[in-house]
Amino acid sequence: MPTTQEIPTASPIGRGTPRIDGPLKVSGAAHYASDFHFPELLYAVPVEATIANGKIRQLDTAAAEKMPGVRAIFHRKNIGKIFRSSAGKGNEGICIERRPAFEDDVVRYYGQYVALAVADTFESAKAAADAVVVTYAKEKPNVEFKLTADHDPDTVETSYGPEKRVQSERGDAAAAFASAPVKLDQTYVTPAETHVPIELQGTTAMWDGDHLTVYEESQAIFNLRSVLAQMFGLPYENVRVITKFVGSGFGSKLWPWTHCPLAVAAARQLGKPVKLVLGRKMTFQAAGHRAHTQQRLRLGATPEGKLVSLQQDYVYERSMLEEYHENCGEATSFHYSVPNLRVHFGRARRNIGTPSDMRGPGAVPGLYATESAMNELADQLKLDLVQFRILNEPKIDEGEGIPFSSRHYVECLQLGAEKFGWSKRNPDVGSMKRDGLTLGWGVAGAAWIATRDDAAANVELRDDGSVRVACGVQDIGTGTYTVLALLTADKTGVPVEKVEVVLGDTMLPHGPVSGGSWATASVVPAVFAAADNAMTALLNAATTTPGSPFENRKQDDLAFKGGRVFVKADGPGGGVPFADLLKRADLRLVTGSGRSEGIFGSKAKPKFSMHSYGCHFAEVTWQPEIARLRVSRVVTVIDGGRIINPLAGRNQIEGAVVMGIGMALLEHTTYDPQNGAPINSNLADYIVAVNADVPKLEVHFLDYPDLELNAIGARGIGEIGLAGIAAAITAATNHATGVRVRELPIRIEDLLKSSVLA
Ligand code: MOS
Repeated sequence: MPTTQEIPTASPIGRGTPRIDGPLKVSGAAHYASDFHFPELLYAVPVEATIANGKIRQLDTAAAEKMPGVRAIFHRKNIGKIFRSSAGKGNEGICIERRPAFEDDVVRYYGQYVALAVADTFESAKAAADAVVVTYAKEKPNVEFKLTADHDPDTVETSYGPEKRVQSERGDAAAAFASAPVKLDQTYVTPAETHVPIELQGTTAMWDGDHLTVYEESQAIFNLRSVLAQMFGLPYENVRVITKFVGSGFGSKLWPWTHCPLAVAAARQLGKPVKLVLGRKMTFQAAGHRAHTQQRLRLGATPEGKLVSLQQDYVYERSMLEEYHENCGEATSFHYSVPNLRVHFGRARRNIGTPSDMRGPGAVPGLYATESAMNELADQLKLDLVQFRILNEPKIDEGEGIPFSSRHYVECLQLGAEKFGWSKRNPDVGSMKRDGLTLGWGVAGAAWIATRDDAAANVELRDDGSVRVACGVQDIGTGTYTVLALLTADKTGVPVEKVEVVLGDTMLPHGPVSGGSWATASVVPAVFAAADNAMTALLNAATTTPGSPFENRKQDDLAFKGGRVFVKADGPGGGVPFADLLKRADLRLVTGSGRSEGIFGSKAKPKFSMHSYGCHFAEVTWQPEIARLRVSRVVTVIDGGRIINPLAGRNQIEGAVVMGIGMALLEHTTYDPQNGAPINSNLADYIVAVNADVPKLEVHFLDYPDLELNAIGARGIGEIGLAGIAAAITAATNHATGVRVRELPIRIEDLLKSSVLA
């Protein structure tokens, strides 16, 4: 009999595990959506509008149609019917740009698709698309940068349902501000930012009678299935979406864009599989971006530094038809204690592609503004930036009037301060030096919603000692394959190497979206329930199979741990491997299904306010002689619940911090005022932070399980790392240079105003 020590019962949760899909990716064996090829596959290339406002007057396809290899040039008159789709409860049927391509002849943004060339090769399709001649009745586009809110009713429709424009209110914020002894009134601006995942968006669509299969790099395959069923009038079960690997998404792949149904319609019209992959420029025009925002913050405080009033009035841009809501007030109502508060928003229509979710939607621009205002007010009060925050720590969620499930924000700040060496900070501008460089130190806080989506999973225990777990969730590069393996290994005691993970297919049990940082939290209860049910089936077999060592035992007397079944009373020292029990019962495998209902979007008032928290301490170096500013060090502390895989977790936060450096210093999608085109729509001109911009990064997790969310206490960490970082960097910049930058990104022109220039 084996001894207790030999039984691998130690859970892999909380240990750093390299991604199980890593070898597939580095060897090129991982197939991304556009890597699939089929006999008779045709290639589609869209024709993009070269105006941002007006009408198509004439579309001349004659020359393009005659080109070699060209199968069709599709446009409004020959694409066939594409219906609209409507969102239901949860994450089903959501399409941020609901107008299907070619629905009418109106052009509302630059790059809108006006025709589609399909040919035998990509090159022929591209040449044909270029040969389509479009004439327009052109009007001046409105891409004005300064935002003035349109006249909107008090409650507006958005892509996710109705929203009250006064989204949170308590006390009398205006009166309390008027009488506050210390005040701050500033406006913060964030530009449009474009997601630039390395893997481009694309669709490969294939029909078999009235059955449709789509390969798409989707962050939400079940949503896409429901959208396509609606758009093509198909029974839900006739649509299959497959997404095995995603080369990241940052939200741009959450909801389908108009190219996807175009590829599906072209495949329908031609009776052949069609592949349509966007060029990088197209992703800047018609595949979402973070909305440009303008936020007025008014804060009032006592001379001792207690907040008495907080008002956030923000305006964001949206496209001509759509209602995407950039919720900059996401974290405002609960993040600090303040008796009088009002958060209110307005919207301004522009001739631009539809904005959409981008990593930490709403909260990231929102916290840039609110945390910047907190830093400025602390400086005005001559209070330490960390102390000022701790002074205003709330006891409960004052917005909802409910307790927090698990909030350790103050501990984040304290640990971060200690690791960073914050106590050595001299608050005087330009006073700190190292190696001939001027240093600036700044800090900011972070918060992001923690919730769960509906999820289902299936677990199989097999007679070779392996376990298979299946769930229709996606891995967008964040480590979901590995998370599912770890959860299954934890529950069954089977080593991670013996767990097979299958995901990314709507044939599998209904999985959650890979968005909102809630995929991990959502799959925990479903996988655990599925594993429990599979183990029940195993114990059934063990107690009923003639000759089984546990024949005629009560199931309650037995336990399953470390991949073995044993008698509870005997302790886990002995037992029989589950594979032996299956073989003895002539079973190849036993299965268990599990599901859990999400809490996101539920109408019931929650008992607890659930969020992740964190903070960033940033250091910049400033060389006044040449006006050169660099981020040189960032320490981040995250309270993200139980961390299932600290290795991938740290990687998530580091990636987000690097993205935040881009947000603070580099990223800005600019629109040409003449033709409305995103000008810098390529990776040479749209600058993101790269390896050379990455400073010394330090990430710490507090690791307090949030057991209100799921049995393991895991929240999500995909987005929290980007919240707040830009405000920490602008605070550090002010500390080094004396320049307050309130419009991102920080530009050299801003820094030339520095009083500490040499
Ligand atoms: Mo995230 S913006 O929900 O992919």
